[in-house]
Amino acid sequence: MSPFADASILLTGADGGLGQRFVEAFLHRGAREVHACGMRIEGVEALRTRHGPRVHPYVLDITDASGVQALVSSLSRLTMVVNCAGVELKRPLTDPAAPRNAQLEMAVNFLGTVHTCHAALPHLRQVGTGQIVNILSIAALATIVPLGAYGASKAAAHQATVALRAELAGTAITVHGVYPGWIATGMGQDVAVAKADPQAVITDICDQIESGETWIFPDPMSRGLAEQHPSWRNPAVLTGLDT
Ligand SMILES: NC(=O)c1ccc[n+]([C@@H]2O[C@H](COP(=O)([O-])OP(=O)(O)OC[C@H]3O[C@@H](n4cnc5c(N)ncnc54)[C@H](OP(=O)(O)O)[C@@H]3O)[C@@H](O)[C@H]2O)c1
Repeated sequence: MSPFADASILLTGADGGLGQRFVEAFLHRGAREVHACGMRIEGVEALRTRHGPRVHPYVLDITDASGVQALVSSLSRLTMVVNCAGVELKRPLTDPAAPRNAQLEMAVNFLGTVHTCHAALPHLRQVGTGQIVNILSIAALATIVPLGAYGASKAAAHQATVALRAELAGTAITVHGVYPGWIATGMGQDVAVAKADPQAVITDICDQIESGETWIFPDPMSRGLAEQHPSWRNPAVLTGLDT
């Protein structure tokens, strides 16, 4: 059975370029409901207006750990969490504002992801099955200049993704890391490089979640790099540490 069928999905960054398309794809694939979270009420309410009552709009800043906890614990059911919210400031580490920029990228891309995963886990454990999907970036695995701090924040979220997958091994909760290259959304609009079609990327990600794939390279750029670096899919994971 498709993990989207009758699913209750928490989606962050729901009013962003990829997020809006995720909402449509999840509903199309049979989700019962999508808890669509964004920073701006107009953005998430527009999703409900467009798609109807299966969309529940919320304003949520994922850097606010207690706000995330309060919202997620108020939900009656959750079977999937999709961490799509993200920021990319495109500034070099030599920039005078680098420390401030790095704090924001780390707060959103890494800590925000940890907050939602942590808050959602009791729901998934209660259902006994489910999916955690973290939208990372190829910059988590390859160094892209001048995206050093962004890459570090996505690499941190990647480490958390791999570790959480190992911690949940033996349960029916799967943890999926998604490593896109450039996509033609607002985030990539200032960069003069070839970009993947967002709709094709969304279709690929959803197809791969349905097939149970946990390492998702959803576009030509990321697939090409992953083929050149097969070791990426086999990270050293050391378990059994007595804590
Ligand atoms: N586009 C690309 O080329 C690309 C490539 C690789 C990975 N990605 C990743 O894909 C994901 C989606 O990106 P996108 O292309 O859809 O970009 P986008 O259109 O800029 O969407 C990002 C979303 O995250 C939200 N957000 C930012 N800070 C937040 C916070 N503190 N709390 C909650 N939401 C927050 C934004 O809200 P506001 O707009 O209101 O700020 C926006 O809705 C991101 O994680 C991004 O890093 C994108």
